[in-house]
Amino acid sequence: MLAATATGVNPDEPLAGLVVGECADPEPPPGWEVVEVRAAALNHHELWSLRGVGVGPEDLPVVLGTDAAGVTADGRDVVVHAVLGGAGPGEDETLAPDLHLLSERGVPGTLAERVAAPSRNLVPKPASLGFAEAACLPTAYLTAYRMLFTRAGLAPGARVLVQGAGGGVATAALLLGRAAGLEVHVTSRSEAKRERALELGAASALEPGARLPARVDAVVETVGAATWGHSLRSLRPGGTVVVSGATSGGDPPAELARLFWRGLTVAGSTMGTLEELRALCRLVDAAGVRPVVDSTFALADAEAAFRRLESGDAFGKVVVTNG
Ligand SMILES: NC(=O)c1ccc[n+]([C@@H]2O[C@H](COP(=O)([O-])OP(=O)(O)OC[C@H]3O[C@@H](n4cnc5c(N)ncnc54)[C@H](OP(=O)(O)O)[C@@H]3O)[C@@H](O)[C@H]2O)c1
Repeated sequence: MLAATATGVNPDEPLAGLVVGECADPEPPPGWEVVEVRAAALNHHELWSLRGVGVGPEDLPVVLGTDAAGVTADGRDVVVHAVLGGAGPGEDETLAPDLHLLSERGVPGTLAERVAAPSRNLVPKPASLGFAEAACLPTAYLTAYRMLFTRAGLAPGARVLVQGAGGGVATAALLLGRAAGLEVHVTSRSEAKRERALELGAASALEPGARLPARVDAVVETVGAATWGHSLRSLRPGGTVVVSGATSGGDPPAELARLFWRGLTVAGSTMGTLEELRALCRLVDAAGVRPVVDSTFALADAEAAFRRLESGDAFGKVVVTNG
């Protein structure tokens, strides 16, 4: 089958190790099944993998990708939950000691014609979404859902700041936040992206570091060092910054005095649980949320899709489709 595979890692030129070509079909172990992938969304995660973050030489080659929507052998339309690990029934699998995702630890990922996943990880595709839109849900939209509603615990009417408005998680946080009745403020380096965010319902769209109209209850932080200080300054006393990514660097000054004096909470967050993915699918159907797809590419053109993601110019998700 055709697949986008990491064959090597390179911290400076991540796409140097990307190969789009033939590889063996997945062989599902007991309790897993094969999904014919109709669409797979790209995430910054794939660029980290190609840089060697979370992927070692012993894992290579490995099919990339954590997001898929497709069809099972018995004809069910599904989205694929990418979170793997040894959580027991009812436990939060994002906190499992051996947490890993499809495309990590040598488990083949979703950027392929077919992917194998545990049967329990297959969730019915929201009826209101096409495959390309549905493929955006299991990583970026699930991460945003958990950040807003589980980790920050935001209720309708709350104020939230989303840093880096053009990103996949960021556009998800804007759309899901609006659907849930939040007042969503965003920053972006790009004027065009700020305008898009306003069209999608942002209450304000500011340059990075700009003063907000009012302090917020929570910040959705995926940019990292470039925006961290602004995130802390933008919170009301007692507010929460939820961090799930650090694209621009992971070691900004901690500003401990600001944290303790203003009673701020820093909450880490990664992906989401199966139950959160099911709830996200219901929210999407109930509220009519349509994930923002920046562009779609055929799997054979996956390298062009990666270049689009790497450019930083995308607004929303870059998606690879099959058939
Ligand atoms: N923990 C998890 O479960 C999880 C899940 C998903 C993603 N993540 C992480 O979250 C991050 C974002 O992921 P993504 O897939 O949403 O990435 P993405 O679609 O590539 O978006 C990254 C966004 O970050 C902003 N940005 C990048 N460099 C910046 C800089 N120097 N200064 C200011 N803003 C900058 C940009 O926003 P503007 O161009 O609008 O300024 C860009 O749109 C990645 O680091 C990813 O690994 C983690």
